[in-house]
Amino acid sequence: MSRHLQLGVCDYPEHTPESNWQSHAEQQKALGLSVVRIAEFSWAKIEPQEGEYHWEWLDKAITVYANQGLSVVLGTPTATPPAWLIEKHPEILPVDQNGIVKQFGSRRHYDHASDIYKEYATLIVIKMLERYAQNKAVVGWQTDNELAHEGTGQSFGGASAEKFPDWLKKKYGAIEALNEAWGTIFWSQTYNDWHQIKPPTQVATGQANPSHLLDYRRFCSDMVAQFQDSQIQLIRQHAPHHFITHNFVILSEETDLYRLAEDLDFVAWDSYPIGMLEFFATWESEETKTAYARTGHPDLISLNHDIYRGLKNGEDFWVMEQQCGHANWAQYNPLPADNAVSLWTAQAWAHGASAVVYFRWRAAHMAQEIMHSGLLRQDGTQDRGYSDVASLEPSTFSLDSSMSSGCEVVLLHDYQSLWAYNHQPHHQDLNYWRQFTMFYSALRALGIDVDISSSKNVDLSQYKLVVAPALTIFDDSVHELIRNTDPDTQWIFGPRCGFKDATGKVPQKGQFQGVQDILGVRQLNFDSLRPGLTQDVTISEGGLNKVFEAQVWCESYELEEGQTEYVYSGGPQDGKTAVARNNNMTMIGALSKPLTTEIMTSRLTELGVETEILPEGVRLSQRSGSKLVFNFNQQEIQWKGKLLSPVSYQFLS
Ligand code: GAL
Repeated sequence: MSRHLQLGVCDYPEHTPESNWQSHAEQQKALGLSVVRIAEFSWAKIEPQEGEYHWEWLDKAITVYANQGLSVVLGTPTATPPAWLIEKHPEILPVDQNGIVKQFGSRRHYDHASDIYKEYATLIVIKMLERYAQNKAVVGWQTDNELAHEGTGQSFGGASAEKFPDWLKKKYGAIEALNEAWGTIFWSQTYNDWHQIKPPTQVATGQANPSHLLDYRRFCSDMVAQFQDSQIQLIRQHAPHHFITHNFVILSEETDLYRLAEDLDFVAWDSYPIGMLEFFATWESEETKTAYARTGHPDLISLNHDIYRGLKNGEDFWVMEQQCGHANWAQYNPLPADNAVSLWTAQAWAHGASAVVYFRWRAAHMAQEIMHSGLLRQDGTQDRGYSDVASLEPSTFSLDSSMSSGCEVVLLHDYQSLWAYNHQPHHQDLNYWRQFTMFYSALRALGIDVDISSSKNVDLSQYKLVVAPALTIFDDSVHELIRNTDPDTQWIFGPRCGFKDATGKVPQKGQFQGVQDILGVRQLNFDSLRPGLTQDVTISEGGLNKVFEAQVWCESYELEEGQTEYVYSGGPQDGKTAVARNNNMTMIGALSKPLTTEIMTSRLTELGVETEILPEGVRLSQRSGSKLVFNFNQQEIQWKGKLLSPVSYQFLS
């Protein structure tokens, strides 16, 4: 039997009078939904006092869904430890970077390293499993909710502070090795003993040592992963027939998601296209934000789809929360355009989603998310997204083959590089995602589908072009990957690639040893351009000078091998190499989308990969032998003799 995209919704029976449950489930069924995710914040309702369990409401809610043929995904409720637990064990509360304890009253108020908290989390998860592992309506589990999100990935006191020195001791063995790795000779930061090392909280003059920051990130990321591991083990043990997933967040930075995804059956993420543009994409211009205010930017949305598909090597993923109306958490929260919800749904499928679950069924009439919408308004009437969902035909979205199998281009992503980059951006408007997105977007605007993979364990054999947009850290695994690459595979590196080694320091033998070894290129200078300051980059073609304007970041190279392709013109780096090429390796030092696009086009053409320059806001994607065109513009677009309606998608084949 052929499989197709599943649709579902996040529901909160604990927020809704019981008298509505039946009609809600009937409506969900009638709308074509087949799955509901519930209970991820319901600990206080399940266990209002320690050891006193109330399952009747949840039993009943699950039965109501089951009677409509809806499958249930249960969230473990560990993102919300109840008040009685915090009163008994305030030491599980996390501590912020200023040493202030974060208090009860929202969610995610726990330190992942706390053994006490882990004991309580284990207990509630076991209790839920004992109750529902054999329930026929339950098909799977979501661990916690958006682990480490909303700035909760690191606690700077309590259990984390206690465990950090031991973690370091295991990693380095001797304190001298740590001093060497962190370069503590600088400013007399040398440690005599492990117990002297604290989390990198507010230090006297602002920023802590970046190598210290980097190891603290790694440590906290391990703590989050271990916290999740214990839940995964319990679920596997008690409910081996159920799937386990987790709902990751937009442009997540807090943890190494490749590690977090390792033992999940599949990955899920929460897609809020409009909030993503308003809140996360700080680098986008006001014009861009206004143009995409009601649809979100197509590349930012698909970037996340591609990252999450790549977490488990190209396997299908779920969108566990899909925005279906206005959200509440960005600076501005406009209503989505008509048809945006179906456009997002089709785009998710085209990038590898096997289920899209809308957030949420009925808007909350209480507490922090009163201003957030759902498929139903607070009064129970159908909101704008409802008709969009009703217009979808899930059977048109086949799951017979996965999306990624055909990609010829891969982008390498790495959380250590992200952390190292963002600890020292050297420009207040620059960060890892900005640089990464520029490369990604240039490819998408050329009609290219891409995979995004970890630089640690990627199999490059299927790819013709490998792009490392912002691989700041070259550790041994990256060196090996590059050295063992097929000479026919082209590589493009963005600025700062290989600038640091795994310790977070610049390699000793020359400032740029990582890339120098491989490309025969030595970095000379980098130039951080304030707004309004630009730098020309030129190439001489047929006696004419072609000029590109770079903004934000320009670095120059000296070549030991290979050739200069583009040079800087004017300014302090006048005449120096901006883009270097050595056989199949290209290094781009200047941030300019048109320049990057030109280089990508030239390499792809050499490789026999077809490109086409798409109109602004128009994108192509292929899945299961189908090709789709998306129009994210709010106006009609003429494209190749076709009329693309505003905010729409069409199957081309
Ligand atoms: C998500 C979260 C949900 C809800 C939603 C609102 O990040 O998982 O619980 O808060 O945002 O947009």
